[in-house]
Amino acid sequence: MAKTKSRWLCQDCGFESSGYLGKCTDCGAWGTVVEEMALAPALGIRGASVLNTGKSLLSEPLSLLEDVDFGDAQRLPTSINDVDEVLGGGLVPGGVILISGEPGIGKSTLLLQLAGALSKSKSNKVLYFASEESKGQVKLRAERLGFGNAQIYLDGSHNTQEIAQKLTDAKAQVAIIDSIQSIYHPQISSASGSVSQVRESAQLIIDTAKEANTSVILVGHVTKDGSIAGPRVLEHMVDVVLIFEGDRTRRLRVLRTIKNRFGSTQVSAIFTMTEDGLKTVDNPSELLLGERLHLVGKKQAPSGTAIISAQEGRRSLFLEVQALVANSNAGANSSPKRLANGWDTNRLLQIIAVLEKKMSMSLGRADVYVNVVGGLDLNDPAGDLGVCIAIATSYMDRSLDPGSVFIGEIGLTAEIRAVADLEKRLLEAQRLGFTHAYVPKANLPLSKNPGKMKVVGVDNVKDVFEQVMPQLLAKAKTQNQTQAPTQTSTLPSTSTPTSTMI
Ligand code: TYD
Ligand code: MG
Repeated sequence: MAKTKSRWLCQDCGFESSGYLGKCTDCGAWGTVVEEMALAPALGIRGASVLNTGKSLLSEPLSLLEDVDFGDAQRLPTSINDVDEVLGGGLVPGGVILISGEPGIGKSTLLLQLAGALSKSKSNKVLYFASEESKGQVKLRAERLGFGNAQIYLDGSHNTQEIAQKLTDAKAQVAIIDSIQSIYHPQISSASGSVSQVRESAQLIIDTAKEANTSVILVGHVTKDGSIAGPRVLEHMVDVVLIFEGDRTRRLRVLRTIKNRFGSTQVSAIFTMTEDGLKTVDNPSELLLGERLHLVGKKQAPSGTAIISAQEGRRSLFLEVQALVANSNAGANSSPKRLANGWDTNRLLQIIAVLEKKMSMSLGRADVYVNVVGGLDLNDPAGDLGVCIAIATSYMDRSLDPGSVFIGEIGLTAEIRAVADLEKRLLEAQRLGFTHAYVPKANLPLSKNPGKMKVVGVDNVKDVFEQVMPQLLAKAKTQNQTQAPTQTSTLPSTSTPTSTMI
Protein backbone atom coordinates (compact mmCIF):
# COMPACT_ATOMS: atom_id res chain seq x y z
CA MET A 1 0.00 0.00 0.00
CA ALA A 2 1.53 3.32 -1.03
CA LYS A 3 1.97 6.06 1.53
CA THR A 4 -0.95 8.50 1.73
CA LYS A 5 -0.14 12.19 1.55
CA SER A 6 -2.43 15.04 2.45
CA ARG A 7 -2.63 18.26 0.47
CA TRP A 8 -4.72 21.41 0.69
CA LEU A 9 -6.68 22.22 -2.45
CA CYS A 10 -8.92 25.15 -3.38
CA GLN A 11 -12.27 23.64 -4.37
CA ASP A 12 -12.91 26.51 -6.79
CA CYS A 13 -9.72 26.76 -8.81
CA GLY A 14 -7.63 23.70 -7.88
CA PHE A 15 -4.77 25.74 -6.35
CA GLU A 16 -2.60 23.55 -4.11
CA SER A 17 -1.04 24.86 -0.93
CA SER A 18 1.12 23.22 1.70
CA GLY A 19 -1.27 24.06 4.53
CA TYR A 20 -4.62 25.58 5.45
CA LEU A 21 -5.49 28.96 3.97
CA GLY A 22 -8.61 30.99 4.83
CA LYS A 23 -8.45 32.70 1.44
CA CYS A 24 -7.13 31.07 -1.72
CA THR A 25 -4.03 33.01 -2.77
CA ASP A 26 -4.72 32.17 -6.43
CA CYS A 27 -8.42 32.89 -7.05
CA GLY A 28 -9.17 34.89 -3.90
CA ALA A 29 -12.13 32.72 -2.80
CA TRP A 30 -12.75 32.46 0.96
CA GLY A 31 -13.14 29.16 2.81
CA THR A 32 -12.60 26.98 -0.26
CA VAL A 33 -9.21 25.45 0.65
CA VAL A 34 -9.76 21.98 2.14
CA GLU A 35 -7.49 19.09 3.01
CA GLU A 36 -7.55 16.07 0.70
CA MET A 37 -5.70 12.78 0.86
CA ALA A 38 -4.04 11.27 -2.19
CA LEU A 39 -1.92 8.26 -2.98
CA ALA A 40 1.64 8.79 -4.28
CA PRO A 41 3.39 12.14 -4.28
CA ALA A 42 2.08 14.85 -6.59
CA LEU A 43 4.11 15.47 -9.73
CA GLY A 44 4.47 19.11 -8.81
CA ILE A 45 2.84 20.57 -11.93
CA ARG A 46 -0.51 22.18 -11.23
CA GLY A 47 -3.23 20.35 -13.12
CA ALA A 48 -1.10 17.26 -13.85
CA SER A 49 -2.30 13.87 -12.71
CA VAL A 50 -0.95 12.72 -9.36
CA LEU A 51 -1.46 9.07 -10.23
CA ASN A 52 1.18 6.91 -11.87
CA THR A 53 -0.24 5.64 -15.15
CA GLY A 54 2.68 3.23 -15.68
CA LYS A 55 3.17 4.35 -19.31
CA SER A 56 6.51 5.00 -20.95
CA LEU A 57 7.24 8.70 -21.28
CA LEU A 58 8.62 8.27 -24.83
CA SER A 59 5.80 6.29 -26.38
CA GLU A 60 5.30 8.24 -29.64
CA PRO A 61 7.75 9.44 -32.31
CA LEU A 62 7.65 13.06 -33.48
CA SER A 63 5.37 13.87 -36.45
CA LEU A 64 5.74 16.41 -39.24
CA LEU A 65 2.71 18.74 -39.48
CA GLU A 66 2.06 17.90 -43.16
CA ASP A 67 1.93 14.18 -42.33
CA VAL A 68 -0.69 14.62 -39.64
CA ASP A 69 -4.22 13.70 -40.71
CA PHE A 70 -6.88 15.43 -38.64
CA GLY A 71 -9.51 13.18 -40.22
CA ASP A 72 -12.42 15.64 -40.39
CA ALA A 73 -14.26 13.08 -42.54
CA GLN A 74 -14.43 10.85 -39.46
CA ARG A 75 -16.74 13.23 -37.64
CA LEU A 76 -19.83 11.54 -36.35
CA PRO A 77 -23.03 13.50 -37.06
CA THR A 78 -25.46 13.35 -34.12
CA SER A 79 -28.48 13.79 -36.47
CA ILE A 80 -29.61 16.75 -34.34
CA ASN A 81 -28.49 19.44 -36.79
CA ASP A 82 -28.21 22.29 -34.31
CA VAL A 83 -26.02 20.25 -31.96
CA ASP A 84 -23.80 19.27 -34.88
CA GLU A 85 -23.44 22.92 -35.82
CA VAL A 86 -22.47 23.84 -32.25
CA LEU A 87 -19.87 21.05 -32.24
CA GLY A 88 -18.43 22.23 -35.56
CA GLY A 89 -19.79 19.36 -37.67
CA GLY A 90 -20.45 16.48 -35.28
CA LEU A 91 -18.63 14.45 -32.63
CA VAL A 92 -14.90 13.80 -33.06
CA PRO A 93 -13.74 10.23 -32.25
CA GLY A 94 -11.61 10.33 -29.08
CA GLY A 95 -12.76 13.88 -28.33
CA VAL A 96 -14.05 14.71 -24.85
CA ILE A 97 -16.88 17.20 -24.39
CA LEU A 98 -17.90 18.74 -21.09
CA ILE A 99 -21.52 19.93 -20.91
CA SER A 100 -22.40 21.97 -17.89
CA GLY A 101 -25.52 23.63 -16.59
CA GLU A 102 -27.68 24.11 -13.52
CA PRO A 103 -29.51 21.11 -12.09
CA GLY A 104 -32.86 20.58 -13.81
CA ILE A 105 -32.00 22.63 -16.89
CA GLY A 106 -32.24 19.57 -19.17
CA LYS A 107 -28.71 18.17 -19.59
CA SER A 108 -29.75 14.54 -19.09
CA THR A 109 -32.74 15.05 -21.39
CA LEU A 110 -30.58 16.54 -24.15
CA LEU A 111 -27.96 13.81 -23.85
CA LEU A 112 -30.49 10.99 -23.79
CA GLN A 113 -32.09 12.45 -26.92
CA LEU A 114 -28.64 12.64 -28.46
CA ALA A 115 -27.96 9.01 -27.48
CA GLY A 116 -31.33 8.00 -28.96
CA ALA A 117 -30.61 9.82 -32.23
CA LEU A 118 -27.09 8.35 -32.49
CA SER A 119 -28.24 4.80 -31.71
CA LYS A 120 -30.53 4.82 -34.77
CA SER A 121 -27.49 4.15 -36.91
CA LYS A 122 -26.51 0.44 -36.71
CA SER A 123 -22.81 1.36 -36.94
CA ASN A 124 -22.95 3.38 -33.69
CA LYS A 125 -22.51 1.75 -30.32
CA VAL A 126 -23.72 4.17 -27.64
CA LEU A 127 -23.03 3.82 -23.90
CA TYR A 128 -24.84 5.81 -21.20
CA PHE A 129 -23.28 5.79 -17.73
CA ALA A 130 -26.09 6.99 -15.49
CA SER A 131 -24.34 7.46 -12.17
CA GLU A 132 -26.91 9.96 -10.87
CA GLU A 133 -30.08 8.11 -11.73
CA SER A 134 -31.12 4.48 -11.72
CA LYS A 135 -31.33 2.54 -14.99
CA GLY A 136 -35.11 2.41 -14.42
CA GLN A 137 -35.31 6.21 -14.32
CA VAL A 138 -33.34 6.49 -17.55
CA LYS A 139 -35.59 3.90 -19.20
CA LEU A 140 -38.68 5.82 -18.06
CA ARG A 141 -37.31 9.05 -19.52
CA ALA A 142 -36.41 7.28 -22.77
CA GLU A 143 -40.02 5.96 -22.93
CA ARG A 144 -41.33 9.52 -22.44
CA LEU A 145 -39.05 10.74 -25.19
CA GLY A 146 -40.41 8.06 -27.50
CA PHE A 147 -37.47 5.65 -27.82
CA GLY A 148 -37.82 3.18 -24.96
CA ASN A 149 -36.38 0.41 -27.13
CA ALA A 150 -33.38 2.30 -28.50
CA GLN A 151 -30.07 0.42 -28.80
CA ILE A 152 -28.38 2.31 -25.94
CA TYR A 153 -26.20 0.40 -23.46
CA LEU A 154 -26.93 1.56 -19.90
CA ASP A 155 -24.58 1.26 -16.95
CA GLY A 156 -24.89 2.41 -13.36
CA SER A 157 -21.21 2.24 -12.27
CA HIS A 158 -19.84 4.91 -9.97
CA ASN A 159 -16.24 3.68 -9.96
CA THR A 160 -14.12 5.56 -12.53
CA GLN A 161 -11.73 2.64 -13.03
CA GLU A 162 -14.66 0.33 -13.75
CA ILE A 163 -16.11 2.88 -16.20
CA ALA A 164 -12.70 3.21 -17.90
CA GLN A 165 -12.45 -0.58 -18.21
CA LYS A 166 -15.93 -0.73 -19.75
CA LEU A 167 -14.98 2.04 -22.18
CA THR A 168 -11.87 0.11 -23.23
CA ASP A 169 -13.77 -3.19 -23.66
CA ALA A 170 -16.82 -1.78 -25.45
CA LYS A 171 -14.93 0.12 -28.19
CA ALA A 172 -18.07 2.25 -28.52
CA GLN A 173 -18.44 5.24 -30.83
CA VAL A 174 -20.03 7.43 -28.13
CA ALA A 175 -20.18 7.32 -24.34
CA ILE A 176 -22.08 9.68 -22.06
CA ILE A 177 -21.06 10.02 -18.40
CA ASP A 178 -23.80 11.66 -16.34
CA SER A 179 -22.13 13.13 -14.26
CA ILE A 180 -18.41 13.67 -13.52
CA GLN A 181 -19.28 14.80 -9.97
CA SER A 182 -21.09 11.58 -9.10
CA ILE A 183 -18.30 9.11 -9.95
CA TYR A 184 -15.23 8.42 -7.82
CA HIS A 185 -11.68 7.26 -8.39
CA PRO A 186 -10.97 4.56 -5.76
CA GLN A 187 -7.36 5.69 -5.34
CA ILE A 188 -8.42 9.13 -4.15
CA SER A 189 -9.78 9.26 -0.63
CA SER A 190 -11.76 12.51 -0.85
CA ALA A 191 -15.49 12.56 -1.56
CA SER A 192 -17.06 12.45 -5.05
CA GLY A 193 -17.24 15.90 -6.57
CA SER A 194 -14.11 17.21 -4.80
CA VAL A 195 -11.32 18.79 -6.81
CA SER A 196 -9.01 15.73 -6.69
CA GLN A 197 -11.82 13.32 -7.54
CA VAL A 198 -13.12 15.35 -10.48
CA ARG A 199 -9.62 15.95 -11.82
CA GLU A 200 -8.36 12.38 -11.55
CA SER A 201 -11.60 10.81 -12.79
CA ALA A 202 -11.67 13.16 -15.76
CA GLN A 203 -8.01 12.48 -16.58
CA LEU A 204 -8.54 8.71 -16.58
CA ILE A 205 -11.63 9.03 -18.75
CA ILE A 206 -9.91 11.40 -21.19
CA ASP A 207 -6.92 9.04 -21.56
CA THR A 208 -9.23 6.05 -22.05
CA ALA A 209 -11.42 7.91 -24.57
CA LYS A 210 -8.38 8.79 -26.70
CA GLU A 211 -7.08 5.21 -26.58
CA ALA A 212 -10.45 3.61 -27.37
CA ASN A 213 -11.20 6.34 -29.97
CA THR A 214 -14.56 6.88 -28.29
CA SER A 215 -16.21 10.27 -28.27
CA VAL A 216 -17.09 10.98 -24.63
CA ILE A 217 -19.55 13.52 -23.27
CA LEU A 218 -19.14 14.41 -19.59
CA VAL A 219 -21.90 16.15 -17.66
CA GLY A 220 -20.66 18.73 -15.15
CA HIS A 221 -22.66 20.65 -12.58
CA VAL A 222 -22.33 24.35 -12.04
CA THR A 223 -21.99 26.06 -8.69
CA LYS A 224 -24.24 28.88 -7.49
CA ASP A 225 -22.10 31.53 -9.19
CA GLY A 226 -22.34 29.68 -12.52
CA SER A 227 -18.82 28.24 -12.71
CA ILE A 228 -18.28 24.55 -13.35
CA ALA A 229 -17.95 22.75 -10.03
CA GLY A 230 -14.54 21.24 -9.43
CA PRO A 231 -11.24 22.63 -10.60
CA ARG A 232 -11.00 25.14 -13.39
CA VAL A 233 -8.38 22.77 -14.81
CA LEU A 234 -11.26 20.50 -15.90
CA GLU A 235 -12.12 23.08 -18.56
CA HIS A 236 -8.52 23.00 -19.76
CA MET A 237 -8.40 19.20 -19.85
CA VAL A 238 -11.36 18.55 -22.17
CA ASP A 239 -11.57 19.37 -25.90
CA VAL A 240 -14.95 21.09 -25.91
CA VAL A 241 -16.84 22.96 -23.17
CA LEU A 242 -20.55 23.52 -23.73
CA ILE A 243 -22.86 25.47 -21.44
CA PHE A 244 -26.55 24.62 -21.38
CA GLU A 245 -28.54 27.46 -19.90
CA GLY A 246 -31.88 29.18 -19.70
CA ASP A 247 -34.51 30.10 -17.16
CA ARG A 248 -35.87 26.94 -15.57
CA THR A 249 -39.27 28.52 -15.13
CA ARG A 250 -39.45 29.15 -18.88
CA ARG A 251 -39.04 26.75 -21.71
CA LEU A 252 -36.23 28.35 -23.71
CA ARG A 253 -32.74 26.83 -23.49
CA VAL A 254 -29.47 27.86 -25.16
CA LEU A 255 -26.53 25.55 -25.88
CA ARG A 256 -23.36 27.66 -26.10
CA THR A 257 -19.76 26.73 -26.78
CA ILE A 258 -17.17 28.40 -24.60
CA LYS A 259 -14.27 26.30 -25.85
CA ASN A 260 -13.95 24.11 -28.93
CA ARG A 261 -10.65 22.58 -30.04
CA PHE A 262 -12.43 21.25 -33.14
CA GLY A 263 -14.42 24.28 -34.29
CA SER A 264 -15.70 27.78 -33.73
CA THR A 265 -17.19 29.07 -30.47
CA GLN A 266 -19.39 31.50 -32.39
CA VAL A 267 -22.26 29.05 -32.81
CA SER A 268 -25.10 28.30 -30.44
CA ALA A 269 -28.36 26.38 -30.56
CA ILE A 270 -31.72 27.33 -29.12
CA PHE A 271 -34.22 24.75 -27.87
CA THR A 272 -37.54 24.73 -26.16
CA MET A 273 -38.40 22.18 -23.45
CA THR A 274 -41.69 20.48 -24.31
CA GLU A 275 -43.65 17.54 -22.92
CA ASP A 276 -41.77 15.35 -25.42
CA GLY A 277 -38.28 16.61 -24.61
CA LEU A 278 -36.20 19.34 -26.20
CA LYS A 279 -37.14 20.68 -29.63
CA THR A 280 -35.08 22.96 -31.86
CA VAL A 281 -36.46 26.50 -32.22
CA ASP A 282 -36.10 27.90 -35.73
CA ASN A 283 -37.44 31.40 -35.10
CA PRO A 284 -36.58 32.26 -31.50
CA SER A 285 -37.32 36.00 -31.91
CA GLU A 286 -40.92 35.24 -32.85
CA LEU A 287 -41.26 33.04 -29.76
CA LEU A 288 -39.58 35.63 -27.54
CA LEU A 289 -41.47 38.66 -28.83
CA GLY A 290 -44.86 36.93 -28.94
CA GLU A 291 -47.74 39.42 -28.80
CA ARG A 292 -45.38 42.36 -29.01
CA LEU A 293 -44.92 41.80 -32.77
CA HIS A 294 -48.68 42.19 -33.31
CA LEU A 295 -48.56 45.76 -31.98
CA VAL A 296 -46.50 46.97 -34.98
CA GLY A 297 -48.57 49.41 -37.06
CA LYS A 298 -51.63 49.00 -34.78
CA LYS A 299 -51.14 50.17 -31.20
CA GLN A 300 -48.47 51.96 -29.28
CA ALA A 301 -45.99 50.06 -27.15
CA PRO A 302 -46.27 50.39 -23.36
CA SER A 303 -43.93 52.97 -21.82
CA GLY A 304 -40.71 51.56 -20.38
CA THR A 305 -40.22 49.04 -23.17
CA ALA A 306 -37.94 48.83 -26.20
CA ILE A 307 -36.79 46.21 -28.66
CA ILE A 308 -33.11 45.29 -28.54
CA SER A 309 -30.98 43.09 -30.71
CA ALA A 310 -28.55 40.45 -29.45
CA GLN A 311 -26.29 38.15 -31.43
CA GLU A 312 -26.55 34.63 -30.02
CA GLY A 313 -23.72 32.89 -31.80
CA ARG A 314 -24.41 33.49 -35.48
CA ARG A 315 -28.11 34.07 -34.87
CA SER A 316 -29.71 37.50 -34.59
CA LEU A 317 -32.24 37.68 -31.79
CA PHE A 318 -34.69 40.47 -31.08
CA LEU A 319 -36.06 40.76 -27.59
CA GLU A 320 -38.16 43.12 -25.55
CA VAL A 321 -36.44 44.92 -22.71
CA GLN A 322 -38.56 46.44 -19.95
CA ALA A 323 -37.49 49.12 -17.51
CA LEU A 324 -39.19 50.60 -14.48
CA VAL A 325 -38.00 53.86 -12.95
CA ALA A 326 -39.67 54.55 -9.62
CA ASN A 327 -39.15 56.97 -6.72
CA SER A 328 -36.90 55.22 -4.25
CA ASN A 329 -37.87 54.54 -0.65
CA ALA A 330 -34.21 54.19 0.27
CA GLY A 331 -33.21 56.60 3.02
CA ALA A 332 -30.82 59.49 2.46
CA ASN A 333 -27.89 57.35 3.56
CA SER A 334 -28.64 54.28 1.46
CA SER A 335 -28.46 53.77 -2.27
CA PRO A 336 -31.51 53.27 -4.48
CA LYS A 337 -32.05 49.84 -6.05
CA ARG A 338 -30.59 48.95 -9.45
CA LEU A 339 -31.68 45.49 -10.53
CA ALA A 340 -31.11 43.81 -13.86
CA ASN A 341 -32.56 40.51 -14.97
CA GLY A 342 -31.00 39.00 -18.11
CA TRP A 343 -28.75 42.05 -18.43
CA ASP A 344 -25.36 42.85 -16.91
CA THR A 345 -25.76 45.07 -13.81
CA ASN A 346 -22.48 46.89 -14.46
CA ARG A 347 -23.64 47.85 -17.95
CA LEU A 348 -26.93 49.07 -16.42
CA LEU A 349 -25.05 51.26 -13.92
CA GLN A 350 -22.96 52.70 -16.75
CA ILE A 351 -26.06 53.53 -18.82
CA ILE A 352 -27.72 55.20 -15.80
CA ALA A 353 -24.57 57.26 -15.22
CA VAL A 354 -24.55 58.41 -18.87
CA LEU A 355 -28.25 59.34 -18.71
CA GLU A 356 -27.69 61.34 -15.52
CA LYS A 357 -24.56 63.15 -16.59
CA LYS A 358 -25.17 63.65 -20.31
CA MET A 359 -28.98 63.80 -20.53
CA SER A 360 -29.55 65.54 -17.16
CA MET A 361 -31.99 62.84 -16.08
CA SER A 362 -32.51 62.81 -12.30
CA LEU A 363 -32.07 59.15 -11.51
CA GLY A 364 -30.01 59.65 -8.34
CA ARG A 365 -32.98 58.97 -6.04
CA ALA A 366 -34.81 56.54 -8.32
CA ASP A 367 -34.94 52.76 -8.21
CA VAL A 368 -34.24 51.34 -11.67
CA TYR A 369 -35.29 47.82 -12.66
CA VAL A 370 -34.45 46.26 -16.03
CA ASN A 371 -35.74 42.95 -17.32
CA VAL A 372 -35.04 41.25 -20.63
CA VAL A 373 -38.18 39.28 -21.46
CA GLY A 374 -37.62 35.58 -22.25
CA GLY A 375 -35.25 34.47 -19.50
CA LEU A 376 -32.05 34.61 -21.56
CA ASP A 377 -28.88 36.15 -20.16
CA LEU A 378 -27.62 38.67 -22.70
CA ASN A 379 -24.05 39.69 -23.09
CA ASP A 380 -24.20 41.81 -26.25
CA PRO A 381 -23.31 45.49 -25.78
CA ALA A 382 -25.45 46.30 -28.85
CA GLY A 383 -28.40 46.15 -26.44
CA ASP A 384 -27.21 49.29 -24.55
CA LEU A 385 -29.20 51.71 -26.68
CA GLY A 386 -32.48 49.80 -26.22
CA VAL A 387 -31.96 49.55 -22.46
CA CYS A 388 -31.27 53.29 -22.37
CA ILE A 389 -34.47 54.01 -24.35
CA ALA A 390 -36.56 51.72 -22.10
CA ILE A 391 -35.29 53.56 -19.00
CA ALA A 392 -35.94 56.96 -20.58
CA THR A 393 -39.49 56.07 -21.70
CA SER A 394 -40.32 54.80 -18.21
CA TYR A 395 -38.85 57.97 -16.68
CA MET A 396 -40.87 60.18 -19.04
CA ASP A 397 -43.89 57.84 -19.09
CA ARG A 398 -43.90 57.97 -22.88
CA SER A 399 -44.54 55.34 -25.51
CA LEU A 400 -42.66 54.83 -28.72
CA ASP A 401 -43.58 53.29 -32.05
CA PRO A 402 -43.55 49.50 -31.47
CA GLY A 403 -42.04 49.09 -34.96
CA SER A 404 -38.69 50.57 -33.84
CA VAL A 405 -35.59 48.62 -32.90
CA PHE A 406 -32.57 50.17 -31.19
CA ILE A 407 -29.09 48.84 -31.88
CA GLY A 408 -25.87 50.32 -30.50
CA GLU A 409 -23.30 50.23 -27.75
CA ILE A 410 -23.12 53.32 -25.55
CA GLY A 411 -19.73 54.72 -24.58
CA LEU A 412 -18.99 56.81 -21.50
CA THR A 413 -19.19 60.07 -23.45
CA ALA A 414 -22.70 59.06 -24.60
CA GLU A 415 -21.41 58.23 -28.06
CA ILE A 416 -23.06 55.33 -29.94
CA ARG A 417 -20.38 52.86 -30.90
CA ALA A 418 -20.37 50.53 -33.89
CA VAL A 419 -21.64 46.97 -33.43
CA ALA A 420 -20.74 43.68 -35.11
CA ASP A 421 -22.95 42.04 -37.76
CA LEU A 422 -25.27 45.02 -38.25
CA GLU A 423 -26.44 43.86 -41.72
CA LYS A 424 -27.43 40.45 -40.36
CA ARG A 425 -29.35 42.04 -37.51
CA LEU A 426 -31.18 44.39 -39.86
CA LEU A 427 -32.20 41.63 -42.26
CA GLU A 428 -33.72 39.71 -39.34
CA ALA A 429 -35.45 42.87 -38.03
CA GLN A 430 -36.92 43.45 -41.49
CA ARG A 431 -38.06 39.82 -41.70
CA LEU A 432 -39.82 40.15 -38.33
CA GLY A 433 -41.73 43.19 -39.62
CA PHE A 434 -40.02 46.06 -37.80
CA THR A 435 -40.25 49.37 -39.65
CA HIS A 436 -37.52 51.58 -38.12
CA ALA A 437 -34.02 50.81 -36.92
CA TYR A 438 -31.84 53.27 -35.00
CA VAL A 439 -28.26 52.15 -35.58
CA PRO A 440 -24.73 53.51 -34.98
CA LYS A 441 -23.73 56.03 -37.63
CA ALA A 442 -20.25 54.48 -37.44
CA ASN A 443 -21.68 51.32 -39.05
CA LEU A 444 -23.05 53.20 -42.10
CA PRO A 445 -23.21 53.01 -45.09
CA LEU A 446 -24.57 49.49 -45.22
CA SER A 447 -23.29 47.02 -47.77
CA LYS A 448 -26.68 45.26 -47.89
CA ASN A 449 -29.96 47.15 -48.10
CA PRO A 450 -32.48 45.89 -45.53
CA GLY A 451 -35.47 46.40 -47.85
CA LYS A 452 -38.33 48.66 -46.81
CA MET A 453 -37.16 49.29 -43.26
CA LYS A 454 -36.07 52.84 -42.46
CA VAL A 455 -32.52 52.87 -41.08
CA VAL A 456 -31.56 55.93 -39.03
CA GLY A 457 -27.87 56.48 -38.19
CA VAL A 458 -27.21 58.01 -34.76
CA ASP A 459 -23.99 59.40 -33.32
CA ASN A 460 -24.79 59.80 -29.66
CA VAL A 461 -27.59 59.31 -27.15
CA LYS A 462 -28.78 62.91 -27.58
CA ASP A 463 -29.18 62.28 -31.32
CA VAL A 464 -31.55 59.37 -30.61
CA PHE A 465 -33.64 61.36 -28.17
CA GLU A 466 -33.90 64.21 -30.67
CA GLN A 467 -35.38 61.72 -33.11
CA VAL A 468 -37.66 59.69 -30.88
CA MET A 469 -38.32 61.63 -27.67
CA PRO A 470 -37.56 65.37 -27.94
CA GLN A 471 -39.68 65.92 -24.79
CA LEU A 472 -36.83 64.46 -22.72
CA LEU A 473 -34.39 67.02 -24.06
CA ALA A 474 -36.89 69.86 -23.50
CA LYS A 475 -37.38 68.71 -19.89
CA ALA A 476 -33.62 68.55 -19.36
CA LYS A 477 -33.27 72.08 -20.73
CA THR A 478 -35.95 73.48 -18.40
CA GLN A 479 -34.38 71.66 -15.47
CA ASN A 480 -30.97 73.10 -16.28
CA GLN A 481 -32.44 76.60 -16.45
CA THR A 482 -34.40 76.35 -13.21
CA GLN A 483 -32.17 74.18 -11.04
CA ALA A 484 -28.60 74.11 -9.88
CA PRO A 485 -26.91 71.13 -11.57
CA THR A 486 -26.38 69.27 -8.27
CA GLN A 487 -30.03 69.48 -7.20
CA THR A 488 -32.24 66.44 -7.80
CA SER A 489 -35.81 66.77 -8.95
CA THR A 490 -38.67 64.37 -8.31
CA LEU A 491 -39.78 61.98 -11.01
CA PRO A 492 -42.70 62.87 -13.27
CA SER A 493 -46.00 61.93 -11.66
CA THR A 494 -47.36 58.64 -12.91
CA SER A 495 -50.88 59.67 -11.92
CA THR A 496 -51.16 61.88 -15.02
CA PRO A 497 -50.02 59.60 -17.82
CA THR A 498 -48.90 61.45 -20.90
CA SER A 499 -48.26 58.51 -23.21
CA THR A 500 -48.02 59.68 -26.78
CA MET A 501 -47.31 57.86 -29.98
CA ILE A 502 -44.31 59.40 -31.65
P1 TYD B 1 -33.08 16.87 -16.63
O1 TYD B 1 -32.78 16.57 -18.05
O2 TYD B 1 -33.05 15.75 -15.67
O3 TYD B 1 -32.12 18.04 -16.13
P2 TYD B 1 -30.58 17.97 -15.65
O4 TYD B 1 -30.00 16.69 -16.12
O5 TYD B 1 -29.93 19.18 -16.29
O6 TYD B 1 -30.57 18.09 -14.17
O7 TYD B 1 -34.57 17.45 -16.55
C1 TYD B 1 -34.94 18.73 -16.67
C2 TYD B 1 -36.39 19.02 -16.43
O8 TYD B 1 -37.06 18.90 -17.65
C3 TYD B 1 -37.14 18.17 -15.44
O9 TYD B 1 -37.59 19.02 -14.40
C4 TYD B 1 -38.36 17.67 -16.18
C5 TYD B 1 -38.36 18.43 -17.47
N1 TYD B 1 -38.72 17.62 -18.66
C6 TYD B 1 -39.70 18.09 -19.52
O10 TYD B 1 -40.30 19.15 -19.32
N2 TYD B 1 -40.02 17.33 -20.64
C7 TYD B 1 -39.39 16.15 -20.89
O11 TYD B 1 -39.72 15.50 -21.91
C8 TYD B 1 -38.39 15.68 -19.99
C9 TYD B 1 -37.67 14.39 -20.22
C10 TYD B 1 -38.05 16.46 -18.89
MG1 MG C 1 -29.29 15.06 -14.93
